[in-house]
Amino acid sequence: MHHPIIKHGYYGEFGGQFIPEMLRKNFIDLEAAFNEAWGDSKFQRAYSNLLRDFVGRPTPLQKAERWSERCGVEVWFKREDLAHTGAHKINNAMGQVLLALRMGKRRIIAETGAGQHGVATATACAWAGLPCTVFMGAEDMERQKPNVERMRLLGAEVRSAQTGSKTLKDATNEAMRYWIAHPEDTHYIIGSAVGPHPYPMMVADFHRVIGEETKATLEGLGLQPTHLVACLGGGSNALGLFLPYLDDETELVGVEAGGEGLDSGRTAATIERGSPGILHGAKTMILQDSEGQIEEAHSISAGLDYPGIGPLHSHLAATGRLQTAAISDGEALEAGLLCTRLEGILPALETAHALAWTLKADWSGHEMVVLNLSGRGDKDLQMYTSRRGHNE
Ligand SMILES: Cc1ncc(COP(=O)(O)O)c(C=O)c1O
Repeated sequence: MHHPIIKHGYYGEFGGQFIPEMLRKNFIDLEAAFNEAWGDSKFQRAYSNLLRDFVGRPTPLQKAERWSERCGVEVWFKREDLAHTGAHKINNAMGQVLLALRMGKRRIIAETGAGQHGVATATACAWAGLPCTVFMGAEDMERQKPNVERMRLLGAEVRSAQTGSKTLKDATNEAMRYWIAHPEDTHYIIGSAVGPHPYPMMVADFHRVIGEETKATLEGLGLQPTHLVACLGGGSNALGLFLPYLDDETELVGVEAGGEGLDSGRTAATIERGSPGILHGAKTMILQDSEGQIEEAHSISAGLDYPGIGPLHSHLAATGRLQTAAISDGEALEAGLLCTRLEGILPALETAHALAWTLKADWSGHEMVVLNLSGRGDKDLQMYTSRRGHNE
């Protein structure tokens, strides 16, 4: 069962399916195949077994003692960095590859920003024996080099997107363009809870295991969190954690990339600074100019550097269920370095935004926070080391 918040592909006024005619049949087939698979106990069993045996789930839920002391509030980390390939993205990639096999699709394409979704998809394709092409902005290929090498070792072809800001938005454009030209044999694995219906719902459903594990562990300990915190790129790690708690009283906090500052013109804080519009096939909050042209986003973190956000987040923010905040490039780098020293965990720069928010928030000290530690920071070593050099 999907959450009843979705109605005919919409979440309130957001969502929908703004697609080219050429892909109409793909979307009809995909929605039918996903609904059928999701309701099939055989598919569910195959997916859960893969998550256990290949991905390494359940991931631990760890009380972060020294981080909690520094923040003045109890903080638990949901350790998605310990999932195979080092980030939550693998949950969705494995689910969608299983679905592609079931649909008889013979070729996989994906877009990637930080490279984590690209690595996860290349991994899933190696496991399934399917050819894989990953589109990545030229700028992101430069700043997330280790992941480009990993994808190639896994047998994927990495194609660079040279348009616009040469980042995630442009890679997504290229992937969509390829799909329109090859609709028959190809499945497009979108890497976040964005895009036309049914992607936002499907990607969120493939990640809801994060929140389900969290809830089961805490209930077993007789605990109920007051806050759930996650960084917002397109919104998939956040929704994975939030979905099982949507109808509870727990506060949901989404941390956006403020970039060089909310009013600097160089930001990726889509909910804080955007307005409703259409991007990549869905109505959602986007960064746009007065004529409706998409503005270039900026964040030090390639995985958050996107001028859109999933439509469910737009709806949750518009209705007051989701609280958002923005963290600057510098604050994220400092928080990531601090977490490394205090907890022995080098977090992804994306995750570091959520960490920075817990340091800044105004706590009474009685709250209990679960933070989605969405990924590891090996890919970001270069940026962390140059920041450390700058501090010394
Ligand atoms: C480790 C990590 N966390 C978070 C994100 C942001 O994506 P999402 O908002 O879909 O979780 C990314 C994207 O690349 C990532 O690699």
